[in-house]
Amino acid sequence: MAYQDVYESWKTDPEGFWMEAAKGIDWIEAPTKALFDDNAPLYEWFCDAKVNTCWNAVDRHVENGRGEQTAIIYDSPITHTKREISYVELRNRVATLAGALRAKGIEKGDRVIIYMPMIPEALEAMLACARLGAVHSVVFGGFASNELAVRIDDAKPKAIIAASCGMEPGRVVHYKPLLDGAIDLASHKPEFCVIFQREQEVAQLIEGRDFNWHGFQYGVEPAECVPVDGNDPAYILYTSGTTGAPKGVVRPTAGHLVALNWTMKNIYDVDPGDVFWAASDVGWVVGHSYICYAPLIHGNTTIVFEGKPVGTPDAGTFWRVISEHKVKSFFTAPTAIRAVKREDPSGELMAKYDLSNLRALFLAGERADPDTIVWAQDALKVPVIDHWWQTETGWTIAGNPLGIEELPVKLGSPAKPMPGYDVQILDEGGHPMKPGELGAIAVKLPLPPGTLPTLWNAEERFKSSYLNQFPGYYETGDAGMIDEDGYLYIMARTDDVINVAGHRLSTGGMEEVLAAHPDVAECAVIGVSDQLKGQMPVGFLCLNAGCDRDHGEVVQDVVKLVREKIGPVAAFKQAVVVDRLPKTRSGKILRGTMVSIADSKDYKMPATIDDPAILDEITVALKSIGFAQ
Ligand code: COA
Ligand code: AMP
Repeated sequence: MAYQDVYESWKTDPEGFWMEAAKGIDWIEAPTKALFDDNAPLYEWFCDAKVNTCWNAVDRHVENGRGEQTAIIYDSPITHTKREISYVELRNRVATLAGALRAKGIEKGDRVIIYMPMIPEALEAMLACARLGAVHSVVFGGFASNELAVRIDDAKPKAIIAASCGMEPGRVVHYKPLLDGAIDLASHKPEFCVIFQREQEVAQLIEGRDFNWHGFQYGVEPAECVPVDGNDPAYILYTSGTTGAPKGVVRPTAGHLVALNWTMKNIYDVDPGDVFWAASDVGWVVGHSYICYAPLIHGNTTIVFEGKPVGTPDAGTFWRVISEHKVKSFFTAPTAIRAVKREDPSGELMAKYDLSNLRALFLAGERADPDTIVWAQDALKVPVIDHWWQTETGWTIAGNPLGIEELPVKLGSPAKPMPGYDVQILDEGGHPMKPGELGAIAVKLPLPPGTLPTLWNAEERFKSSYLNQFPGYYETGDAGMIDEDGYLYIMARTDDVINVAGHRLSTGGMEEVLAAHPDVAECAVIGVSDQLKGQMPVGFLCLNAGCDRDHGEVVQDVVKLVREKIGPVAAFKQAVVVDRLPKTRSGKILRGTMVSIADSKDYKMPATIDDPAILDEITVALKSIGFAQ
């Protein structure tokens, strides 16, 4: 069947489509139907099924003769380590870890926070939770104590599993003090912590609260897979919204299994046994879906890569991994390819490696710019596929489903909606727009299996963030258009979310940090275009009347503060002091206009601007730090 036939087959019979896809999963009790819509506009999938994620990702492959196949390849140029774990080893390791967690009281429904770098133990911790029906919430290692504390208070974990440290080029990230700081800051206290001591750093354990990863597993009974309901949460993953309070995206168990399993062949075109590599981090949704769950559910070999596209040791590292491990399908963020291209523009390092097993390169996480796509196409001579999705959906909203049909690539477009997604462009009043017209991108409800049914403990926020603006639709937060051929184009966010090196960040969250500085009266943070990272945050500070401190010092303070409160991943390095911020007459800060000035783009003077002269002051300030040239 061609793409259009598959899409139509879903549209005419969504129930039949998803029940067919559900056959790819091992059920303890099979679902009798796919969609449960009694609670519309809140929808759920496969609610009456009983299932276990870990069984589907690990045990069933051992039962079906894949026990000796490599499940996980750990390749860490940063620590000069390589290791392979077969499915049978993985099963044994995960069952023992789950047994140890159970012995300490972890049960179905309990939350467990995981704060770990890119090591196989991070996946094992996720799978051990899944085995028990416990709900994990992985927190990215680049986040500081304060961000971790916010997540601890929201998820209220019974336990936290962490590593002693992470490794960034040139520095060790001391996770344990960050963890201890977070627990001190949080009102909720976990009952216990499990610490994986890495060779690179042995952390101090707190007697009675912290247990050593190895020691606490000694002599325990391995745990079997615990049946959970189809709509029980598999995990919570916090993501940035408009304010500093992150949103706890809930991933439902059965829909997650069905949808991810479907994507591996249909979108990524891999068969069980093939090597699949997503060079992301387990702290992000790409890492959840495509480092951990989907490849394992589908019986692939997945790669846990602890390194960077450049500098570990050079821009040939991606190609070395692809060649050495015979990667068939490779997934990364455009920013990573831009980093490689910048260091190795003519592909000399790439030419050193045999990439004949590579079938395609997939890009997501931010807009894939045409230059990057064309460079990768020319260099790799395989399809370079842009696809668009979000933490909220967990899998592709629009893409080019290589396993069904390779659609002609249109540069700048992630191609067409996947089955399950009826994507529409709406005007402010919620009316569908014509092809080529720019508007808000919305998806007609219900969203497909695997997507978020709600936010953790925040149903009202779920409704107000996603459902209320356009009744009957899910509001994606992205703006764009659909062309005459049905290709989608993602142009910008409609909220204050920015995308820095493929990392989703909230400018609102950064503003909250700046505003807390004692000398700052008012502030704004915008995302300006950056050749490498896509966007970079820039802050504007209005100081309190009478503050006579050196402006450079205040800027240094706030840069340090964002690093301490949010983390290095915010990449907040630039700010300027200004007298006033440009606003509308009703007091709304004109961030969009400031972005246009910074990016040296033409802009229309906003009709509602209070004082146009302020824009000249903003231009001068931006020029002083190298923008608006
Ligand atoms: N733990 C601790 N710190 C981390 C971290 C982690 N897991 N990940 C990043 N950081 C730190 C970095 O060390 C850096 O710190 P610094 O300010 O001291 O230099 C800071 O956060 C910013 O990191 P990053 O934005 O990643 O920039 P970079 O200059 O280190 O690397 C790229 C640039 C493009 C090579 C890198 O961002 C990259 O590989 N991006 C791809 C991202 C990706 O895969 N996203 C997932 C979506 S698919
Ligand atoms: P995240 O939740 O971190 O995956 O970020 C999701 C957001 O990243 C989307 O809402 C988009 O703004 C952006 N994004 C992700 N993939 C793409 C893509 N292929 N093209 C354009 N923007 C993208």
